Amino acid sequence: MGLTIQTVSPHIGAEVIGADLQQPVGDNLFRELHQAWVDADGLLIIRDQVLKPEQQIAFSRRFGELASAAENPVIEKYSLPGHPEIFRVSNKKKDDEPLGREDAGTYWHADGTWQTFPSKASILYAIEIPRVGGNTMFADLYQAWETLSPTMKRLLEGLQAVHAMANAGDTSYGREFAGKGDAVAAKSATHPLVITHPDSGRKALFVNRGYTAHIVGMTKAESDALLGFLFQHSTAPELVYRHSWRAHDLVIWDNRCTAHYAIPDYKAVGDRYLHRTSVKGDRPMQ
Ligand SMILES: [Fe+2]
Repeated sequence: MGLTIQTVSPHIGAEVIGADLQQPVGDNLFRELHQAWVDADGLLIIRDQVLKPEQQIAFSRRFGELASAAENPVIEKYSLPGHPEIFRVSNKKKDDEPLGREDAGTYWHADGTWQTFPSKASILYAIEIPRVGGNTMFADLYQAWETLSPTMKRLLEGLQAVHAMANAGDTSYGREFAGKGDAVAAKSATHPLVITHPDSGRKALFVNRGYTAHIVGMTKAESDALLGFLFQHSTAPELVYRHSWRAHDLVIWDNRCTAHYAIPDYKAVGDRYLHRTSVKGDRPMQ
């Protein structure tokens, strides 16, 4: 079976046509998909897949060990019963109980960069999608690095930044975590501001507004000013692909070279229900 790979924007994202993930994915097909993912700056879209939770989990495991939603005190209650690897994202309710996390990721962030080993990949599968709205934006952090001036690059190389879950304090995620006390305060990690991606060998600007709290060795004013610029620069429209979801889309993104923003504009139009798996990181960023 030959795959067709079509880019979806000039820099970030590609759609794969001709893959059937209901079937077990053999080594050759996986290698091809993985290379397409790396070549598309860490964003791959595979449409028209009809996947049971077991099939999504089996495919996701090809990328590495999966995180369990049960390990995270805020998202635990949104895990799919019987499948702790699946985190449910939804505005829907059943008997007054949310069927998933409603406002997941409604700000620029990359998943889990507050961990010592940042998440390798997130894999999101759409089951129910409104007719319009509820898009997700993806920013290309390789391009964010490559479009800086040589002078700015020299300033940033070698710097480290603290990523903290508590930094998402002005989001619903942060507010929910605020009630969890020390369990959350401890969830932070220090990473280089500029990383070399282990698969592509390319440099990426490793910052996101959601979790990057401050630059080590700078005053708060210096760090806030510089990070403010980097957040704006890294999410400029030229670096962003906006995905308009259809039911049965599977989207795979790399949290080490992309950031994303889920747009919560759809609730007057319809409902949204998606299943996410997360592939754990296996190394520190460098
Ligand atoms: Fe996210």
